[in-house]
Amino acid sequence: MSQPDTPRRGKVAVIGAGFYGSTTAQRLAEYDIFEEVVLTDIIDGKPEGLALDMNQSRPIEGFETRVTGQTTGRSGDGYEAVAGSGIVVITAGLPRKPGMSRMDLIEVNAKIVRDVVENVVKHAPEAVLIVVSNPLDEMTALAAKVSGFPSSRVMGQAGMLDTARFSYFVAEKLGVPAGSVRTLTLGSHGDTMVPVPSACSVSGRPLGELLPAEEIDKLVTRTRNGGGEIVGLLKTGSAYYAPSAAAARMARAVAADSGDVMPVCAWVDGEYGISGVYLGVEAEIGSAGVRRVVQRDLSDTELAALREAAEAVRAKQADVAALLRAGDAALSRFASAKAALSRSCASQGGAGPARRRGPRHRRGRRHRTRRSRSDWMARSPGPRPAGRRRA
Ligand code: APR
Repeated sequence: MSQPDTPRRGKVAVIGAGFYGSTTAQRLAEYDIFEEVVLTDIIDGKPEGLALDMNQSRPIEGFETRVTGQTTGRSGDGYEAVAGSGIVVITAGLPRKPGMSRMDLIEVNAKIVRDVVENVVKHAPEAVLIVVSNPLDEMTALAAKVSGFPSSRVMGQAGMLDTARFSYFVAEKLGVPAGSVRTLTLGSHGDTMVPVPSACSVSGRPLGELLPAEEIDKLVTRTRNGGGEIVGLLKTGSAYYAPSAAAARMARAVAADSGDVMPVCAWVDGEYGISGVYLGVEAEIGSAGVRRVVQRDLSDTELAALREAAEAVRAKQADVAALLRAGDAALSRFASAKAALSRSCASQGGAGPARRRGPRHRRGRRHRTRRSRSDWMARSPGPRPAGRRRA
């Protein structure tokens, strides 16, 4: 049980009180290091109800962090509750359904994330943003662009989750404690996830000494499809226990100015010979967000895969940035094209970055439908409230 005089500091906000957001808020509150955790959502009463429920667990779990729920409106009312937050975790957005790729969410989630970030910036201009909405790499880049924050203050959660999934699969396969396994994935949260075998070990022994290469490959494939496996089982909604554990750890590292090195989606500027892209890399996390990207020695194969992932992600992020200027109609066509492309890639058993970059004609259409950024921002249709899809 915590002591009543334990120092608690600061405020962290979680935007989106769905499964991911509410479990993140609960974990953050149970750390008992924050003065306040704010949970918001556009569904009237949902964040207030969940906050009340979490506060009622305080006498049982023994934490004193106050949880505040706040419904927010489309015009940004209610965002005053976020004011002064040092960290904002953005979980607002739709999750996948079976058969969907993360990229299928881009249209609706780009609008949601854009609206959320605009409001957050007004009330918490000094915050570190941790983005978790999917497609992750693109939404992180979008949040950075919309916020105008220094790139070090915007990061995405994906690498910790992918790495944790990989570690769990190895532990399960070998029948060893999960805590004895070290793995690492870099790159993107998706098709171009890059496993790093040279950084994988069990109780200090290289993974390659314990499992044949083909077994490791199977675990890598399962990791790459780890989110989809859970979506397929749940039928509605996506994973949130492991994802929220990862996001909460990132927030804790920021709050504690810990200097922990963890795999996150961070702005890469020269490391590994890659520049100008949000990418899954290891980074040292502190109170100002990413202190530095940590570069490790990679094998030639791993480095080539990371660079390939960077180019795939760069192309998608550039598309999203252009679409921010181009308008909703273009965004809709982009989403359809991406969805069709990802389905065709899936049916062909995956595709290289060049194909994922998308057809040339899409770029042409985008130019023909270009609208000013302010037009797109002004029309801001907002999301349809998503009700709970699981009992
Ligand atoms: N502002 C605040 N909350 C919003 C907004 C908005 N503009 N738009 C939608 N939401 C809320 C919904 O009302 C819902 O409560 O976001 C919540 C999403 O919750 P779930 O549907 O339960 O989805 P969840 O599993 O939490 O996933 C959230 O994280 O992993 C990703 O792909 C996943 O993009 C999805 C996000």
